[in-house]
Amino acid sequence: MKLPAIVSKTWCASSAIVTVTAAILAGASPSDAQDAAKVKAGLEAWKTAGCAECHGAFADGEKQRDEAPTGANLRQARLDDAALTETIRCGRPGTGMPSFGADAYTQRGCYGKPAGPAPDALYPAARTLSAAELEAVVVYLRARVIGKRDVTREECVFYYGDAADSFCDPAL
Ligand code: HEC
Repeated sequence: MKLPAIVSKTWCASSAIVTVTAAILAGASPSDAQDAAKVKAGLEAWKTAGCAECHGAFADGEKQRDEAPTGANLRQARLDDAALTETIRCGRPGTGMPSFGADAYTQRGCYGKPAGPAPDALYPAARTLSAAELEAVVVYLRARVIGKRDVTREECVFYYGDAADSFCDPAL
């Protein structure tokens, strides 16, 4: 059948045009669109892995769960991407920062040491993160958290999406 082939080709071409046009209208290049997708994926990992329980939704140390250890204010973090990734993958032994990498200590060492017994976790991670999720969460932190000062309404709306009205102060 010829018709469906034509239809799908046309559809592909026009959807590509729509995507590119949307990117141009937003002042973005296709790689920005990929970055935006990664930032979203990182935010999703942040929310679902329990980071906010200790660090707070906006990573400012205003933790969400009272009995959780108080996480660092990541808005003021000074680590480079490699150190961020290592900290999240390996945790920080002896502190409340759990290790999130499934391979941390078991298959790949941490902090320059070969794989070995995992240090006592003061607080276990709610779940582990894949390598892609680890990368995405670092991209997210770099794009939306690190070096940011006050929590803006725009940031709150980005974080809560459709639920923003219930969570974000309209006066912000
Ligand atoms: C159980 C509590 C807890 C959870 C959950 C947690 N953290 Fe932490 N995190 C901490 C604590 C406590 C520290 C400070 C460690 C220290 O004293 O050096 C920390 C430190 C960090 C640091 C280092 C900051 C710096 O400037 O040195 C990063 C980055 C970080 N956390 C990211 C994350 C991410 C991303 C997640 C989720 C995937 C997460 N944390 C989940 C408690 C937590």
